[in-house]
Amino acid sequence: MSSVARAPGRVNLIGDHTDYTGGLVLPMAIDRETTITFTASPHVELTSRDFDGHVRFDLPIASASTLQPSWGRYVAGVAAAMSERSMAPIGFSGTVATTVPIGGGLSSSAALEVAAALAFGIEADLATIAAVCRRAEHLATSVPCGIMDQLTSTAGVKDHALLIDCHSLDITPIRIPDGVSVWVVPVSARTLDGSEYPMRVAQCAAAEREIGPLRSADLAGTNNIVDRVIRARARHVVSENLRVRAFAAALAANDLHDVGKIMYEGHHSLSRDFETSTPAMDAAVEHFARIPGVHGARMTGGGFGGCLVILADDDAPIAAGADSDGHSDAMRVRAADGASLDTPLS
Ligand code: GLA
Repeated sequence: MSSVARAPGRVNLIGDHTDYTGGLVLPMAIDRETTITFTASPHVELTSRDFDGHVRFDLPIASASTLQPSWGRYVAGVAAAMSERSMAPIGFSGTVATTVPIGGGLSSSAALEVAAALAFGIEADLATIAAVCRRAEHLATSVPCGIMDQLTSTAGVKDHALLIDCHSLDITPIRIPDGVSVWVVPVSARTLDGSEYPMRVAQCAAAEREIGPLRSADLAGTNNIVDRVIRARARHVVSENLRVRAFAAALAANDLHDVGKIMYEGHHSLSRDFETSTPAMDAAVEHFARIPGVHGARMTGGGFGGCLVILADDDAPIAAGADSDGHSDAMRVRAADGASLDTPLS
């Protein structure tokens, strides 16, 4: 009898490029997931319904970053990250399938990592599983990501977004108000591997060398940064942390006007100060802002392409509006529970 490990993707409502400096984020796990159906095995053997090739490796794995086919690197990265912490991964043989769009900014890689960690038999609290999977991403790719994606995939709560302090890892679930839908609109496919993401992480580190931790800095402090570009990057991070707090309060109070206003401000900050948006994403935000019933829209996730997230009344004509502008695969997503493992009854 097979076991099934499931892990959801995520969409971030507000708080981008704040996690790797220990700031605030407000994502939700979504009702799109990656599943690994497996039985225990001495090796790791995995086929995918969505990708070509067959992944096979022995445990312990020496190097995750060179494995072929390349999607297997996320799985191998988890095995390597568990071994680093002396958590012996158990081999498995199985099939992976996903309903998370790949390379769209909805954390398909984090979902694969978290599902793999469960299949490897990891036994740890949700934050530790997320930390292992974050490390897996570092071992598998050149993306020095923060913890948001993996922690959202492990800790998601149905019908709620998660206010996460990425320093303390405290999580406060905030209910998505009734009558409001969250939509995701893919604008352009991309991968963060090979993007300017590592450069942004380095620029934030440069800002912190000058003014100390960005998570506790204020906007006045960022004005002291000498270099214009580093100053702009820091201004985004510090103002984004303020926006996450304000957004969380407005969402809890069902103040959708404020929620939307903060989303647009967040988008402009990413576009102007952090320079992770694209002209197509800026145009798409403007397009959706004009649709009746839309409260707010912004790019979501690492950027340089990817998706928009939109908050709108349930009956707002998002899909119809999307069609007329060429964004035909708009999807309504619901906040979902985090990862789980179904084992057969013996
Ligand atoms: C990617 C990373 C996350 C986070 C976002 C930007 O999704 O994996 O850790 O940094 O970008 O908010």
